[in-house]
Amino acid sequence: MFRVRKATLEDVNAIYTLEKRVWGEEVTTVWDMATFIRHGEVLVAMERDLLVGALLSLISKNGDVYIVDVVVSEKKRRCGIAAGLYHKLFSVCPGRRVVTDVSARLVGAVALHEGLGFKKVKLEHNWYGLREKDEPRLLFQYEPK
Ligand SMILES: CC(C)(COP(=O)(O)OP(=O)(O)OC[C@H]1O[C@@H](n2cnc3c(N)ncnc32)[C@H](O)[C@@H]1OP(=O)(O)O)[C@@H](O)C(=O)NCCC(=O)NCCS
Repeated sequence: MFRVRKATLEDVNAIYTLEKRVWGEEVTTVWDMATFIRHGEVLVAMERDLLVGALLSLISKNGDVYIVDVVVSEKKRRCGIAAGLYHKLFSVCPGRRVVTDVSARLVGAVALHEGLGFKKVKLEHNWYGLREKDEPRLLFQYEPK
């Protein structure tokens, strides 16, 4: 059983390690992680003392919540952890639209967002401005209830 709570600065190293292991490369630096915790909304899923999932987000200029990343430990998948992180986000950011971009090849991530009620807005190329790493990304939007 897991529980979801807001991240603190003491979680930075564990989130960094999980994110790097899941993606096979650094995605968020520890410095950016601390900034997201202070100024955005970062949630973690805990199984006792073990960090098994994390959702990183920031508040956009227009007030939308922009999802930076969602990761769940490989051995703990399909237990509802990512969905649990999102449900907590919806409750701590009431009334805000939530937006994200997901690589179109990540079938599980696409299914997760569709299942949560996100709507596909468009397919984008070169979203991060890195042509050599370009892969089509689906932009998703969740309208608050
Ligand atoms: C995508 C990811 C975050 C999902 O985490 P998770 O905790 O396993 O997801 P949940 O258990 O909450 O799944 C909720 C629903 O999403 C869908 N889903 C999740 N993973 C899926 C997969 N691999 N294939 C198909 N559907 C999937 C299912 O509908 C699932 O409900 P179900 O298990 O009752 O069928 C996780 O697989 C992960 O960390 N992947 C690598 C990083 C990544 O792709 N992050 C998303 C970037 S936007």
